[in-house]
Amino acid sequence: MSKFIIKGNSPLSGIIEVKGAKNMATKVISAAILTKDLVKIKNLPRIEDVERALDLSQYLGADFASSKDKLEIQFENISTNQLDADIANKFRASIMFVGPLLARLGEVRFPHPGGCVIGAATRPIDLFLEGYKAMGATIKVSKGYYHLSATHLTGCRYFFTTVSVTGTESLMITATLANGTTTLENCAMEPEIIALAEMLNRMGANISGAGTPTITIKGVKSLKGTQVDIIPDRIETGTFAILGALAKGPLTIEKCNPEHIQILLAIFCKIGVNFSTTKNSITIKPTAKILPYSIKTHEYPGFSTDLQSPYTLLMTQAEGSAIIHETIYDRRLLFVDMLSQMGANIIMCDPHRVVVTGPTRLRGRKLTSPDLRAGITMILAGLIADGQTEIDNIYQVDRGYEDIDSRLIALGAKITRIQ
Ligand code: EPU
Repeated sequence: MSKFIIKGNSPLSGIIEVKGAKNMATKVISAAILTKDLVKIKNLPRIEDVERALDLSQYLGADFASSKDKLEIQFENISTNQLDADIANKFRASIMFVGPLLARLGEVRFPHPGGCVIGAATRPIDLFLEGYKAMGATIKVSKGYYHLSATHLTGCRYFFTTVSVTGTESLMITATLANGTTTLENCAMEPEIIALAEMLNRMGANISGAGTPTITIKGVKSLKGTQVDIIPDRIETGTFAILGALAKGPLTIEKCNPEHIQILLAIFCKIGVNFSTTKNSITIKPTAKILPYSIKTHEYPGFSTDLQSPYTLLMTQAEGSAIIHETIYDRRLLFVDMLSQMGANIIMCDPHRVVVTGPTRLRGRKLTSPDLRAGITMILAGLIADGQTEIDNIYQVDRGYEDIDSRLIALGAKITRIQ
């Protein structure tokens, strides 16, 4: 298992570029299943979750060629309707392959998806199953596999009782090839969903309303190939913006879309972080004093749960107390124990709320990255801590941040990767 050794307290400054969005890339690959034609993808992040999506595509019989951030993928023939359990268990987005396979083949078998251990017991998929059932699929469970089948899918009306990102995307994708019209209500509104709908429409789908709570999909007979540019990763953007607020020098984040992290920038205005933006860049200037500000995670455009952990770290450097309220996942605040071990003053009120009181100097420690976003937060904490921090299990960070060590080293960070 690889680990990072970080020597803290080096001044960080310069320019860092944002890669393509992790949470769009895996979905675009799975959407390519809907057509026998070639799909060309640009700005693909080379992260472990994307490699796993390609492993799964290869298992299903896809042909693909890739170089750097480009990928051409074609599911002309699909050799099996079953997802390999070993691969699917490694990433949550494996669930995104289910709907397209059901729509194209009328049948799919799959295990419960893996990914970060942050949600209730094993992150539930009840909403997906309900949606497929509403479209006419039959669901059986046997020997650890779900088995979905439908001679034909029919358009339906489905109301999400919990707002779900991959749930919205999965039902939207699947409904493109159903007979008739599907109306999805109380949908997630993330920018990645809009970009995915635009891709599907270019393939010949008829989707309207993506980015609003109600999405309407008029089913079509078949879809064709297309070309798609992955949008910038807004969680990387926000993570680097928080790094800028923690660092001692100016940091410019390029190839990003500041519109996608509006809530974080609005909070920066309140807590005294100096920044300026252009259409596709953000510059964070050195900040003398950070004020505390309480947050509650919320679906987009609210405060993203994926930025909660770096923001919690930022509050350890604020002058006063802030409450962090995690409303989306049950286990996403447990990482604060690691910040406490580094010297942070954090009181856990209940599994969903902590009070962080700053400013505190952090000390380097030996830590294990429990999940992707906690992992990057450990790295940021190590960068501002006194002494040396050692972080194990960095596969979790490689799942979502491409080449993170080299990119931070270019800013002045002292990080060594030990294989
Ligand atoms: N939920 C259900 N039933 C379901 C599906 C979800 O109860 O069938 C619940 C979840 O337990 C959670 C809430 O709904 O409490 C929201 O979960 P959601 O389904 O929106 O999460 P997701 O689609 O599995 C995506 C991202 C996550 C990100 C969330 C929230 C992907 C592959 N993952 O997850 O990304 O945190 O949306 O924005 O798109 C990450 O990148 O670190 C990450 C975990």
